[in-house]
Amino acid sequence: MSHVLPNSSDPYIHYRLEGKVFILQIDRPDKKNALTQGMYQALATGIREAEASAEVKVVLLCGAEDCFTSGNDVNDFVQHETQGSERASVQFMKAMVHMRKPLIAAVNGLAIGIGTTLLLHCDLIYAAEDAFLQLPFTRLGLCPEAGSSVLAPALMGHQRAAELLLLGERFTAAKAKEVGLVNEVLPAGRVFAHAMEKAQALAALPGEAVQTSKHLLKRQQSALLDDTIALELVNFSRLLHSEEAQGILQAFLNKRS
Ligand code: COA
Repeated sequence: MSHVLPNSSDPYIHYRLEGKVFILQIDRPDKKNALTQGMYQALATGIREAEASAEVKVVLLCGAEDCFTSGNDVNDFVQHETQGSERASVQFMKAMVHMRKPLIAAVNGLAIGIGTTLLLHCDLIYAAEDAFLQLPFTRLGLCPEAGSSVLAPALMGHQRAAELLLLGERFTAAKAKEVGLVNEVLPAGRVFAHAMEKAQALAALPGEAVQTSKHLLKRQQSALLDDTIALELVNFSRLLHSEEAQGILQAFLNKRS
């Protein structure tokens, strides 16, 4: 039965089908692609619809030419309650965790916060040689989210994960490749086209074989991730409501260092 793909519910998230590749594009460049709850909702819906559609075999996530995403919109951290599993950001995380179809990311410019942690859920990641990544949680008075507290040490080992998640410094695409977070580093202008070539190559393979293989690769981690995300959220929310975190976040919004 064919499944008609809907339009995106958010103006900053675009859906596009190219062949059997469903492209999810984040496009809010004047705010460095910071993600609002409305944008998360459109991303989560896009993933779920792509999963349900027989027309789609691969999902490709990308941002603008100079910016993947600067992470959660900081206004949202200051203004909203974050506890509770119903938030669109959490739905987005869980949609990624439970995807059967391959998820590919094309990273240009910068990937901060969830911009980097979401990559831990992707199957193939291509990044620009001038891109930088950052897991700035402790610097903001916060802690890891999106399952990164389990996925990062599993991928790169405790000490390298601690370097990125405790110090929270920016790191290059080359470093991301060295720790296993990125498959290939490419000239900025080649990233999207290369990711698209790989997406089409995957889409040309027998779909059930690819999806079963992905499921087998991720099976052990997936079982842990819902609980991990819930535990991270309890701690994230507690820290978010601290005076220290609120002071740091307000300072960013007020343009103080
Ligand atoms: N949330 C809300 N707004 C954001 C944002 C975010 N995560 N990231 C960038 N913006 C906004 C800025 O406030 C600014 O808005 P303005 O033009 O209305 O003043 C605009 O996007 C451009 O950002 P700016 O800081 O001027 O650009 P820059 O090139 O100097 O720096 C960043 C870009 C991404 C390095 C910097 O904006 C930044 O550190 N952002 C916060 C990242 C972050 O902490 N994310 C949360 C992770 S948990």
